[in-house]
Amino acid sequence: MLSSKTRKRGAPPDFDALARLYRWMELVTFGPWLQRCRCAFLGDLSACRRAAVLGDGDGRFTAQLLRANSTIEIDAVDLSPAMLRALLGRAGQNAARVRVHGADARTWQPANPPCDLFVTHFFLDCLTEDEVRTLADRLRGALSPSGLWLVSEFAIPEGAFGRWVARPVVWLLYRAFALLTGLAVRNLPDHAAALRAARCTLRKRRSFLNGLLVAELWSAA
Ligand SMILES: C[S@@+](CC[C@H](N)C(=O)[O-])C[C@H]1O[C@@H](n2cnc3c(N)ncnc32)[C@H](O)[C@@H]1O
Repeated sequence: MLSSKTRKRGAPPDFDALARLYRWMELVTFGPWLQRCRCAFLGDLSACRRAAVLGDGDGRFTAQLLRANSTIEIDAVDLSPAMLRALLGRAGQNAARVRVHGADARTWQPANPPCDLFVTHFFLDCLTEDEVRTLADRLRGALSPSGLWLVSEFAIPEGAFGRWVARPVVWLLYRAFALLTGLAVRNLPDHAAALRAARCTLRKRRSFLNGLLVAELWSAA
């Protein structure tokens, strides 16, 4: 793995080495809360038929979505082959409804648009603000008129908790991922501004852990 100093500017992070450990690292640090955040609006996705999950990781959300919605077909996009292998394993007998793409989500385009669901769980924070804006703008064009975009992200809420707890936690996470994966991004992008600029509308929002985590359901309508 290249260190963040030796990686080429703009090069994506490499999560391969973390694929087996990822779930356990998450459980030790945040317990069940990240998965609760990912699944907060699972019940709102029952009408979706074609989804793309970007930066899908080891596929814990995808496995849940496949179980909850028996007709949905999913394009799972991730740069890490090890993550995609873990994802297919986790999908089990529903794996036939998943197409994996070892691709850079910053440039990936669905082969047969439109999709009626995009999912980005803890992925937009791997991108710069400019990259999130470009991505939102481009993918908005591939979303059906009633399409949804589900987001989970870390956040730094206003007030003392934000200042003294959330900000240091986010700082630490960025430092840890810089060391472990070469991630070059250092700050949370304003994904909400990017989605609004791409003419998406926030429909639902829930926060967890005092606002350190947010789940959002956006729509194209
Ligand atoms: C922080 S993990 C989040 C994984 C998962 N979505 C979750 O909720 O845990 C970020 C994932 O995005 C992938 N990734 C990072 N940058 C990427 C890019 N530019 N294109 C595609 N995948 C990328 C990584 O390989 C990793 O699996």
